[in-house]
Amino acid sequence: MNKTFLILMRSVTAALCLFAMAQSALAQDAAKAPRKDLALKGDAVCTRCHGVDEEYPVLAIGQTKHGTVADKRTPTCISCHGASETHINRPAGVSERPKPTISFNKKGGTQPEEQNQTCLTCHQGGKRTHWQTSLHATRDTTCVACHQVHAAHDKVRDKRDQAQVCYTCHKEQRAQSQRPSRHPIPEGKMTCSDCHNPHGSAGPKNLVRDNVNDTCYTCHMEKRGPFVRTHQPVQEDCSICHNPHGTTTPNLLKTRSPFLCQQCHEPTSHRGNFGSLTGNSTSANAAARGCLNCHTQIHGTNNPANISNERTFRR
Ligand code: HEC
Ligand code: HEC
Ligand code: HEC
Ligand code: HEC
Ligand code: HEC
Ligand code: HEC
Ligand code: HEC
Ligand code: HEC
Ligand code: HEC
Ligand code: HEC
Repeated sequence: MNKTFLILMRSVTAALCLFAMAQSALAQDAAKAPRKDLALKGDAVCTRCHGVDEEYPVLAIGQTKHGTVADKRTPTCISCHGASETHINRPAGVSERPKPTISFNKKGGTQPEEQNQTCLTCHQGGKRTHWQTSLHATRDTTCVACHQVHAAHDKVRDKRDQAQVCYTCHKEQRAQSQRPSRHPIPEGKMTCSDCHNPHGSAGPKNLVRDNVNDTCYTCHMEKRGPFVRTHQPVQEDCSICHNPHGTTTPNLLKTRSPFLCQQCHEPTSHRGNFGSLTGNSTSANAAARGCLNCHTQIHGTNNPANISNERTFRR
């Protein structure tokens, strides 16, 4: 049959046919040769279907630290997504392709704890020493709620963009950040993670230090003292008077003087017979800086002399 076929061939058609055969042999060779990885070592098992044509930036992961292929510790697709065998080879008779072993999809992905464990296999310890007990972990916040691992630019790790990521869940802090007195966060000079470790910490409220004051002292060292005359609430907790996220009163104060002070100091019991100091709105303590007109050194004073001026934070 083959013989008959060949005999029937005219010379031109024969040449065309030979050319076609050579082409198909080439194609077979290519199919046998291993596919090239596109972004991560060993990613060809996935990138034969995923990558270049997708809107989602699958391959941009190659531009992140996870794409440092020379480093043995760096992941490949299946380090994060799992072996995903039924996803790669859809079993016969199954109409919908099964999901990869680990799906980080916000709608119906793998359980949050299992997602996080996948990342923690490589990122346990360090800044995440207190992750397990942090409210973020116990309230099922995933690593991926904050981090974009496929994107070349991970917003949450950029000082300028970080707060926007946090605000998606923390509306109250967003509102406070728009008040007139605030830390220079919108300017990108500092950010949430200067005070908080979002992965958890030994201190309260995920603070980077063991308590509020030590956290504030990392930048406001002069408020640490030591002072000879200390003001008890200042030693106790800066956030008694200040709201670090933003206030309508200047100096991040929760309320203005004299009301701030009168939460603790009786309005009517001021010593020295200052008739005008009893909270009357035209009095010295209600005008301008209120009590601070006279008590200017509210965080503490340093003069060892045991005289009223020092004792009462007036210089
Ligand atoms: C034979 C083609 C094919 C291969 C090979 C393949 N995928 Fe997929 N993958 C798809 C298709 C098609 C979808 C879209 C399915 C859908 O929308 O339901 C998808 C969707 C996904 C999704 C999004 C769905 C979700 O819930 O998270 C992820 C993640 C994913 N694939 C990862 C991988 C990884 C990792 C590999 C390699 C281990 C891989 N895929 C290999 C075809 C493939
Ligand atoms: C470091 C861990 C990690 C590695 C490595 C990784 N991925 Fe992902 N991948 C994720 C996470 C996390 C998401 C979910 C991202 C999100 O919600 O924005 C995701 C999402 C996806 C999606 C789904 C996008 C969608 O439509 O929801 C696809 C497809 C995907 N990855 C494929 C791959 C492929 C292919 C590789 C290898 C080249 C790979 N991933 C490597 C962690 C990883
Ligand atoms: C197989 C190990 C492995 C897995 C799994 C893994 N990572 Fe990584 N990751 C690394 C390595 C290695 C680096 C580079 C570390 C370095 O340079 O110190 C890194 C770096 C990072 C960085 C810092 C990037 C930078 O530019 O500094 C972030 C953020 C990160 N990983 C988040 C994640 C998240 C979220 C997951 C889970 C979705 C995850 N990783 C899963 C190994 C892994
Ligand atoms: C609430 C938001 C948030 C969550 C949830 C979160 N991160 Fe982060 N992560 C950050 C921020 C902000 C930074 C940059 C500031 C810093 O380093 O503390 C960061 C930095 C990192 C880094 C780079 C710096 C380093 O520690 O080496 C890695 C790696 C990382 N995160 C991994 C993870 C993993 C793994 C998880 C889940 C177990 C996770 N993150 C959950 C916000 C988050
Ligand atoms: C996906 C939502 C989500 C994102 C994004 C998020 N958080 Fe949270 N955060 C929570 C939840 C849930 C809690 C638990 C308390 C609550 O319900 O408000 C919490 C609590 C906190 C707490 C209080 C912890 C405590 O022990 O009381 C701090 C501080 C915090 N987050 C900081 C951050 C910072 C900083 C970022 C950005 C880097 C961030 N969060 C991003 C969901 C989120
Ligand atoms: C200057 C330090 C500082 C900065 C910057 C800062 N915080 Fe805080 N944050 C604190 C302190 C101190 C507390 C605990 C006392 C308090 O609630 O006033 C706190 C508490 C919180 C709480 C818990 C509130 C509650 O009622 O339990 C959340 C949530 C929070 N911060 C989110 C953020 C977010 C999001 C950012 C960035 C936009 C941010 N913080 C920036 C110092 C800071
Ligand atoms: C990462 C450094 C940093 C930390 C930590 C920090 N601050 Fe600040 N703080 C600043 C900077 C920067 C300014 C703005 C100074 C300027 O504009 O001259 C500022 C300004 C202030 C102001 C004056 C605001 C105004 O309206 O002028 C107060 C009050 C203040 N911080 C209180 C605190 C308290 C309370 C804490 C702890 C909860 C704290 N800060 C932690 C950096 C920090
Ligand atoms: C008893 C209330 C109170 C407490 C507690 C307090 N402050 Fe203040 N703070 C004030 C008042 C009032 C002002 C405004 C002073 C003025 O206008 O002269 C102020 C102003 C500031 C300022 C801006 C002006 C300046 O002096 O630099 C900073 C920074 C500051 N406080 C940091 C702190 C830190 C850090 C702590 C905790 C160690 C703290 N404060 C605790 C009442 C308090
Ligand atoms: C959270 C409560 C609290 C707030 C708010 C507060 N103080 Fe005090 N203050 C105290 C305590 C407690 C002492 C120590 C009282 C003592 O030693 O008898 C004190 C001591 C003082 C003293 C020295 C008293 C003495 O007998 O030598 C002065 C002056 C003073 N405060 C002024 C102020 C002013 C002005 C404000 C407002 C800017 C203010 N305080 C806000 C609790 C507070
Ligand atoms: C016109 C200046 C002035 C103003 C305004 C002022 N004080 Fe005083 N304050 C003094 C002087 C002076 C003393 C010391 C009196 C003495 O040693 O006999 C003093 C003492 C105090 C003491 C020490 C205990 C006492 O009663 O002697 C407290 C507490 C105090 N002031 C709180 C306040 C508060 C709160 C306000 C605002 C409502 C305020 N002061 C406004 C000048 C002022």
